Amino acid sequence: MAQLLSNTCSIQSVVPESYIMPPERRPGQHVVPSCNTIPVIDLDGNRNELIQEIMKASQEYGFFQLINHGVSEELMKDVMVVAKEFFDLPVEEKERFYSEDPNQTCRLKTSADFAKEKVHFWRDNLRHPCHPLEENLQQWPENPARYREVFGSYSVEVRNLGLQILDLICEGLGLEPGYFEGGLTQSQMMISINHYPPCPDPTLVLGLPKHGDPYTLTLLNQGDVPGLQVLKDEQWVAVKPLPNAFVVNINHMLQIISNGKLKSADHRVVVSSNVARTTIASFIHPSKDVLIEPAKSLVSEANPPLYKCFTFEDFIRTYIIDTHEGKDPLECLMIRS
Ligand code: OGA
Ligand code: NI
Repeated sequence: MAQLLSNTCSIQSVVPESYIMPPERRPGQHVVPSCNTIPVIDLDGNRNELIQEIMKASQEYGFFQLINHGVSEELMKDVMVVAKEFFDLPVEEKERFYSEDPNQTCRLKTSADFAKEKVHFWRDNLRHPCHPLEENLQQWPENPARYREVFGSYSVEVRNLGLQILDLICEGLGLEPGYFEGGLTQSQMMISINHYPPCPDPTLVLGLPKHGDPYTLTLLNQGDVPGLQVLKDEQWVAVKPLPNAFVVNINHMLQIISNGKLKSADHRVVVSSNVARTTIASFIHPSKDVLIEPAKSLVSEANPPLYKCFTFEDFIRTYIIDTHEGKDPLECLMIRS
């Protein structure tokens, strides 16, 4: 098994060569201003105003933080405790989930397991599907003992919240009610737990490289340790942790369906020298064979489609290669006039 950072980093005093980014991709030493941050939206508000706020944030930033979202403080914290406990387990407990096969459902990976990747990222990751729950639960870890119970409740609640946000976006875009039901959301939700251990020199590495999320919508529980940065007008903006908030971001499929109206913003993760960071991303996911294209009602002669029609499965194949090579994965889908 490729080495898990979560089991080796405490004995490392220098950054191994293979994790050192080329100078132009390093996070650098300059401080990213955290006063300038992404919009905060209170879900417990007037529906029409809420739609306006979500649309504005999704167009300008592609990111917002959601508070008063209805998932309890206790569950937000519990899931973080269990996630940390998983990465604190001895290596023998974790390695049964390790796989280089992307088709294995519950999969632990390290960024060092891709032969074609030139530089490794300072992150361990566990991911698994969670919808429908009964079909997936049996593949999840049984240790920590509360893993299935806590992630079971959490994934059901987060999925419902995600569908609620998509409902508001659907109305905000003026699409027919229920547009996002079916293949765009019904098939799957993926939980992806990121663990970024402390690093001897955080100026040389990235936890995650600059990327956009390829699915429909992401809801991130980032706990209380900073590290996420979003690209806005060519500047990196730090996403300050807010207690019990979700960081929500528009994914590539929503940018395409909205014909470029909503923005799937690039983001990256920087790491720390003294504290480990654990985050839980929930991705609302299209099914493989669903056809993605700009919504018919959003295109016209005056507003022609910007993207070609393709299946999600075809997109994901090129996405992985393009992201590793630092290329824009939406580029090959653009229709040139
Ligand atoms: C991701 C991601 C951000 C973070 O998992 O795609 O961007 O802060 N995570 O962990
Ligand atoms: Ni991401």
